[in-house]
Amino acid sequence: MSATTISVAAPADFHVHLRQGSFSELVTSHVRLGGFSLAYVMPNLQPPIVNTEEALLYKAQLQAIDPTIEYLMTLYLSPDLTPDEIRKAKQSGIVGVKSYPRGVTTNSEGGIESYEVYYPIFEAMEEQDMVLNLHGEVPSDPTSNTCVLNAEATFLPHLVKLHKRFPKLRIVLEHATTRAAVECVKSLGSTVACTITAHHLDLVVDDWAGQSWNFCKPVAKFPDDRQALREVIKEGHPRFFFGSDSAPHPPDRKSVSSPKQACAAGVYTSPILLPLVATLLESFGALDKLEHFVSGFGRAFYGRPAADERVTLRKTLHKFVEDSWALGDATVVPFWAGKQIGWEIVS
Ligand code: NCD
Ligand code: DOR
Ligand code: ZN
Ligand code: ZN
Repeated sequence: MSATTISVAAPADFHVHLRQGSFSELVTSHVRLGGFSLAYVMPNLQPPIVNTEEALLYKAQLQAIDPTIEYLMTLYLSPDLTPDEIRKAKQSGIVGVKSYPRGVTTNSEGGIESYEVYYPIFEAMEEQDMVLNLHGEVPSDPTSNTCVLNAEATFLPHLVKLHKRFPKLRIVLEHATTRAAVECVKSLGSTVACTITAHHLDLVVDDWAGQSWNFCKPVAKFPDDRQALREVIKEGHPRFFFGSDSAPHPPDRKSVSSPKQACAAGVYTSPILLPLVATLLESFGALDKLEHFVSGFGRAFYGRPAADERVTLRKTLHKFVEDSWALGDATVVPFWAGKQIGWEIVS
């Protein structure tokens, strides 16, 4: 018999883009609407968040929009970062540092090219117990046959090398999309974990090739890769947990009408998040893992136990995802716009 309601302890989104300005007002209020009470906030603003002062200012802006969410802040790995700044950041409650390979995704022009120059930073992070969040893709390069389809698998040796060199450094391979990544993370020690998004549990290459709304980085891969993501959740592996990578863009950046334009990478899931994850997990027989996946495992890895609050979902045959959301001059179109969704939040 299948359940018609399900209740989950304080869901935590361990990877989300909350943007800035009027866009931030719109999307930050969607964290709670989507059923979540913790947001692990990405630093790829324009310009990126590169030091403690900027991260604390950004956190205050987010708190002014919705003070009920617990915001965990990150810094953007860049040459401006120093071991002293890492210690300062830790003392100020900043949790992690995100590394973006140069040019790979939205606002990553300032990202890394080689990790060795950052070893003093990683040493300080290891000592301070800060988390390294990896955008695990190498830049496309025709001379080495790399492109978006093998960018993640080609990155994995860098993860292995970093973990060997810094075994106590907690590392999260963000938004894994391949069987190779799942197997690699499983093979490493307890300090290495992995986030999985909702959309990568749903999409394969066919769904974004020609469908710009489903285009994100890393791109969704083969059916067997999606299967590996589903299997590791079904298995209840504690080092694989939820991070939405909800990444809103204005509609005119998502749909292009000229060869001169490029489509922005990012899928927006925040306002429908918990119902979406429940619907997806149910579709592959893993609804019993929902609470571990969206709350327990990530909170355990980050040492952020859930407060008493719970969110209850109810099965529904009448719910369709909104076509768009707007506030002031900001508009955003969600993933699954207009599509039927199997669960809704009741409280
Ligand atoms: C390399 C790696 O980590 O294997 N990284 C990279 O080129 N991005 C070399 C290095 O450690 O600098
Ligand atoms: O699709 C993506 N969008 N992937 C990322 O890594 C960044 C994100 C964004 O900020 O838009
Ligand atoms: Zn990323
Ligand atoms: Zn992201």
